[in-house]
Amino acid sequence: MRLIRARIDSAALRANLRAIRARAPRSRVMAVVKANAYGHGLVPTALALADADAFAVARLEEAVALRDNGLRRRIVLLEGVFNAAQLAQAAQLELDLVVHQPLQIELLEGFGGPKPLPLWLKVDTGMNRLGFRPEEFRAAWERLRRLTPAPQQLRVMTHLACADEADDATSAAQLQRLRPLVEGLDAELSIANSAGILALPASHGEWVRPGLALYGVSPFAWQRGTQFGLRPAMTLESTVIALREVAAGERVGYGGVWRAPRPSRLAIVAAGYGDGLPRGIPSGAPLLIGAHRAPVAGRVSMDMIAADVTDLPPVGVGDRVELWGTRLAVEELAAAAGTIPYELLCGVSQRVPIELV
Ligand SMILES: Cc1ncc(COP(=O)(O)O)c(C=O)c1O
Repeated sequence: MRLIRARIDSAALRANLRAIRARAPRSRVMAVVKANAYGHGLVPTALALADADAFAVARLEEAVALRDNGLRRRIVLLEGVFNAAQLAQAAQLELDLVVHQPLQIELLEGFGGPKPLPLWLKVDTGMNRLGFRPEEFRAAWERLRRLTPAPQQLRVMTHLACADEADDATSAAQLQRLRPLVEGLDAELSIANSAGILALPASHGEWVRPGLALYGVSPFAWQRGTQFGLRPAMTLESTVIALREVAAGERVGYGGVWRAPRPSRLAIVAAGYGDGLPRGIPSGAPLLIGAHRAPVAGRVSMDMIAADVTDLPPVGVGDRVELWGTRLAVEELAAAAGTIPYELLCGVSQRVPIELV
């Protein structure tokens, strides 16, 4: 038996894809599987979602892994390529490239490949991270159209900066900046991330780009994925490896930051920052031991975390613990730890085996 594992529910992944299609019925879905599919396992997740219209990754190596494992669908390289060798490799793998800076246009102009690559011109409508500024957009578009051979498809992408916040004004301003740029262009648009898909139908365009929602999790701090009919795909489970009684006043763990307020019983669980738990999970944050919630007691260490089980029915070595998943929302633990579910999911470390069911 494995002490810790991330159980991935492939039926939940597929149900979430269907739920996203229902919310954006006129859009095709580009499944965002970068960062090891947000910790869910790049290849198994993409294969489980083989029905998606395309996949999006951030790094060339991620696309290589998908092609090596037989994924023939469209793969969009969200950050594009940075030198001629990468461009040649991307062409050989038949990837779609995002073009967000002049260097990438120069590479394409110097590329003598026989077959044009599908391109996504990225415009910066307010995120101020990647993309051509609105005033540079038309010139970039024209340069791409003049490539030889001409690109088979030239599409437009932008990214929403604040769609996951209760701040509709920024998203509206971004859409307003985009509209005149693409007026009259024969170009498919991709704008919406999960938050745009769930809350901003005007952002749907021809292609939506869900990441977090595909994994059944909400991008909004005030709502859970389940409230949108999504199903959490990952359950991170571990095991109680020891039990310990402490007297009132005894301190627990590194730094002794938790002090027993009464004679207490602690369960030591095999999960720590070496598995990807943030060290910022505070005392009092919940774990689920068997069917019962128990508060964390003391600092997260590399391989272990302690929970106060004084008030629980008897707990034994070998009992299963849910760190997050179907019964304890990752959104809740993220909030308790002062982070976001993205960071918890992406942080699951390499030593945690992924089991797709
Ligand atoms: C360009 C781009 N599109 C889409 C996404 C997916 O975002 P989300 O996971 O919020 O749906 C990301 C994720 O960071 C992204 O960088």
